[in-house]
Amino acid sequence: MLGKLLRFIKIYGVRRAMVKAAGRLRNVRWLPLIINPLYFILKPQIKVGIIGAGQFSFSTISFFLVANRLGRISSVFDINADNAKTLSLAYNAKQCDTPDEVIQAVDVVYVASNHNSHTSYALSALQQEKKVYCEKPIAATFDQLRELYKVVSKKDDLFFCGYNRPHSSIIRHCKTKYASIFNEQPITMSCYVRGHDIPSDHWYRNPDEGTRICGNAGHWVDLFISTIWGRYNSLKYFSLNIISSNSNDLDDNMLISIITDAGDLFNLTISSRSEPFEGIDETINIQAGSLNVKIDDFRSAKINNEHFVTHLKNWVKDVGHEKSIEQPFSKENTRNYMEYFVSTYLTVSLADMILNKQTAKKITILEIMDFFNETSTSRSR
Ligand SMILES: NC(=O)c1ccc[n+]([C@@H]2O[C@H](COP(=O)([O-])OP(=O)(O)OC[C@H]3O[C@@H](n4cnc5c(N)ncnc54)[C@H](O)[C@@H]3O)[C@@H](O)[C@H]2O)c1
Repeated sequence: MLGKLLRFIKIYGVRRAMVKAAGRLRNVRWLPLIINPLYFILKPQIKVGIIGAGQFSFSTISFFLVANRLGRISSVFDINADNAKTLSLAYNAKQCDTPDEVIQAVDVVYVASNHNSHTSYALSALQQEKKVYCEKPIAATFDQLRELYKVVSKKDDLFFCGYNRPHSSIIRHCKTKYASIFNEQPITMSCYVRGHDIPSDHWYRNPDEGTRICGNAGHWVDLFISTIWGRYNSLKYFSLNIISSNSNDLDDNMLISIITDAGDLFNLTISSRSEPFEGIDETINIQAGSLNVKIDDFRSAKINNEHFVTHLKNWVKDVGHEKSIEQPFSKENTRNYMEYFVSTYLTVSLADMILNKQTAKKITILEIMDFFNETSTSRSR
């Protein structure tokens, strides 16, 4: 345990590592005193509610809300009363009996429950005109995705999603500095992910929850779509392929590839042969024209562009959680909602392929437009 704590301090910094450990122990109080004492003295005015009080809400969402004094965590609901109680005690919030009690009482709702419930909680919050931050996946089925789209397309200023990698400092740097390359040239993006060892009976793997594809793989599909988004309007199709290493365990230890008619090539390997000691670990390589970006676990990156070499180094691992969680409070870093509705469409399609034991599928942009019932003009936003 001590070894792990020390390693996490090196990766995430002292405060975040301690909060991650506290999230596992759960029986702690007054955590904001460790994270940011000023949060107590000058409590932020905006009231935040949390639905789903598991490890991510406890150690990541709540951490950044308090560390950056974004909003006051005031109401919490979880179907597991112990989880709701321990998060409420740790962050000095009210434990609520129903999700609706949370939604009514607050200004911003963070949804981080099981995957199948994200859409309905997000819709309830939107119906009450509340801002909602919905963890990934924003939908676990096509029906949910369509229902959510109907509402978000009219209220996109109220909706924010938790696919975080596009918010990481390294990706933001690359997308700003090399926008013209990504917007003009086909890319190769190769992601190797050492994921958590998630047993087959864990809720993440449940077909109703969208399998491990919606639980994990969607992150990198979303990163790919967000990187090529500037050219999305000119694409004609995506071609999806899945190779699973074990026919009895299709959504784990697998390889996903996506190509486009423009020559983009994306591949993702998820390997989880054992639990990674330092948590999830990823290596991402992106090549486009003369640009080559080599990302080592969002702790560092080496960028070659023609004869120029740039090294980026993060003091603490920055996978984009901080900026992503800030979205409801910031006008700067919000994303075009169509980006992640399209990436979720592809993710749900991949989950569907796993459930139907299908290994290859071609999806045209027209099919996606029909699904969202869009006009070509609204696509160009
Ligand atoms: N963006 C990221 O990098 C990232 C990382 C980890 C987890 N997450 C997301 O955060 C969410 C929670 O994951 P976690 O790791 O904390 O899992 P977890 O299992 O620790 O927590 C899930 C919590 O949701 C509760 N819950 C289950 N069904 C519910 C329902 N219908 N209504 C209310 N609460 C319900 C459970 O009791 C549990 O407390 C998931 O959506 C997950 O995908 C995101």
